[in-house]
Amino acid sequence: MKVLMVCLGNICRSPMAEGILRHKAEEAGMDIEIDSAGTGAWHIGEKPDSRAIFTANKFGIDISYQRARQFRIDDFDKFDWIYVMDRSNYADVLAQARSEEDSKKVEMILNMAQPGKDMPVPDPYYGGDEGFNNVFKLLSTACDEIINSAK
Ligand code: 4NP
Repeated sequence: MKVLMVCLGNICRSPMAEGILRHKAEEAGMDIEIDSAGTGAWHIGEKPDSRAIFTANKFGIDISYQRARQFRIDDFDKFDWIYVMDRSNYADVLAQARSEEDSKKVEMILNMAQPGKDMPVPDPYYGGDEGFNNVFKLLSTACDEIINSAK
């Protein structure tokens, strides 16, 4: 299975989602290919936000080696599932879909834990550490369900 996590900047939410899912897949002994990307181009080549690195680290997950990149259309070919963080990411990715097959790969990540609710992972960029802790918890629960659905 190949999974892509997508947010706006690819420096806060989706790098954490990538690190959390990789950690859980390793714990479960599952072979899942995981990457992340941003719909925006501002942070290409950058490390995750230091608060995202710090928060993941508290839970024993190293995301410091990850580098931001932008979502591109051939990601629809490379990945089986594309999990987005909020409605804006959803709209931006869906606008690039070439077919029904592409569109079906895209899902709001919190729908894995709360199906059909379309709850967003709040953007923690302009807040403090508490926002990052909240994002970590939300993503951890959703990633448990991604692992369960892949078993
Ligand atoms: P992310 O957070 O989408 O979770 O990576 C953001 C990071 C940077 C910006 C916006 C959101 N920005 O506007 O630079």
